[in-house]
Amino acid sequence: MSGSVVDPGMHLFDLHADDVPPADPFALARQWLPGDDEPDRPRVTLSTIGEDGYPDARTVLLSAFDDTGFAFHTAATSRKVAELAAAPRAALTVLWPDHQRQLVVRGDVVPDAPGSAVTAWRARTAYLRQLAWLNTDELAGLPLDERRARWAAFTTRPGLPSPADSWTGYRLQPRELTFWAAHPDTASRRLQYVRADDGWRTAHLAG
Ligand SMILES: Cc1cc2nc3c(=O)[nH]c(=O)nc-3n(C[C@H](O)[C@H](O)[C@H](O)COP(=O)(O)O)c2cc1C
Repeated sequence: MSGSVVDPGMHLFDLHADDVPPADPFALARQWLPGDDEPDRPRVTLSTIGEDGYPDARTVLLSAFDDTGFAFHTAATSRKVAELAAAPRAALTVLWPDHQRQLVVRGDVVPDAPGSAVTAWRARTAYLRQLAWLNTDELAGLPLDERRARWAAFTTRPGLPSPADSWTGYRLQPRELTFWAAHPDTASRRLQYVRADDGWRTAHLAG
């Protein structure tokens, strides 16, 4: 994930510069995150509120991102979906591979727009499509030979053009976005945006 920008002519805002930050956090996020059409999707940590009251977390692929939020796709039968049904709030952490940048987004989670599941499905590799169809606790409990046999039997279905029955999309709608950047000669620094009635409030925080 390079964080390459949609518009190559766009001025890349430096979090450590003395300039006034962009008023719109999504403008900054667009500079940092790859476009939705880039096949190598960011791996992000999705944190939810466990049904036992403890935080829960796991890695997911960021399927898409725009001013309405951050979309991810998963199995409707998964624990995260049960947790989101009980408490539709989450945090999403993006760490850049060089460890020089981090973005933490907190907000409300809603079902993603109809059609998003098909778009995200088409962008998944053949392996991930098959995984989405076969990935059950029942399979996970079987001996390796049996798991291999079931995987091989399924591989005969070419392409898997339709999303798995349980495949579903959600969108995290940010109420807070916190951008973190390292610096070689001084302390790391964060730029936090908090949603307000009339736009976004910004603050610089210790890294
Ligand atoms: C690199 C990576 C990418 C993953 N991407 C997804 C994904 O996009 N969607 C998903 O449901 N699970 C994904 N997983 C699996 C989840 O981390 C998790 O194990 C699974 O969704 C079950 O989580 P839950 O029981 O908390 O619901 C990914 C795991 C890794 C390591």
